[in-house]
Amino acid sequence: MRLDYITIFPEYFAPLSLSLVGKAIDSGLLSVGVHDLRDYTHDAHRTVDDTPFGGGAGMVMKPGPWGEALDDVISAATVTPAEAAISDIDESLSFSPEPDLARTCLIIPAPSGYPFTQDQAEDLSGMDHLIFACGRYEGIDARVAQYARQRVEVRELSIGDYVVNGGEVAALVMTEAIVRLLPGVIGNPDSLTEESYSGDFAHLLEYPTYTKPASWRGLDVPEVLVSGHHGRIAQWRREQAEELTKERRPDLLG
Ligand code: 6GU
Repeated sequence: MRLDYITIFPEYFAPLSLSLVGKAIDSGLLSVGVHDLRDYTHDAHRTVDDTPFGGGAGMVMKPGPWGEALDDVISAATVTPAEAAISDIDESLSFSPEPDLARTCLIIPAPSGYPFTQDQAEDLSGMDHLIFACGRYEGIDARVAQYARQRVEVRELSIGDYVVNGGEVAALVMTEAIVRLLPGVIGNPDSLTEESYSGDFAHLLEYPTYTKPASWRGLDVPEVLVSGHHGRIAQWRREQAEELTKERRPDLLG
């Protein structure tokens, strides 16, 4: 998979070289490009924003630099054979350096977007190329999404019902959710199926977990977990998951 980020704060993406995403890059499962939006301006001040038509507070990101950046990043998409092999074995046989725009998605993080969910993450993990357009200020001129839709799939996505200052941190959240689903990124795929939001426990929060020592600062691990009785353990975990979900996230129970 290929990931590109367009931003006025390229330094924000330094964490991509760490942890799970960093390892996926090192192993060749993933390649990443970070692009400074100001490199696509032509004035001395490298201006990326302007006042909103119709008036109102704040500034809006100008379409010009975004159009040039997207033209560059969409067509310069270099999906390597190794990356193509992850998303579709057959493609590695007939590899062509031409980017397959049908498997490219432009993601525009925005508080006004559709909710980013585990289903979205799973769906996006099947793409060849994701481009994150990280806006600041009061957002990006709406014609940018309109223009990009003429070339690739575009999803405007929100990471939750709160406001953060820019799309960068949201893009990192989505990246981690997506990349951990790529085959070969997580050592033990079983850990993908038992957790909250997927597998047997889909739509349930995860049950509490414990490790050694069995007694710590006067607090004991629940008796059932040291009983060795697998049936009772499974039943206890299911009950705990249901109780927790009823208390914290009743909306998930439908
Ligand atoms: Cl994707 N961006 C911003 N700026 N704020 C958000 C968000 C995204 N999702 C929730 N709040």
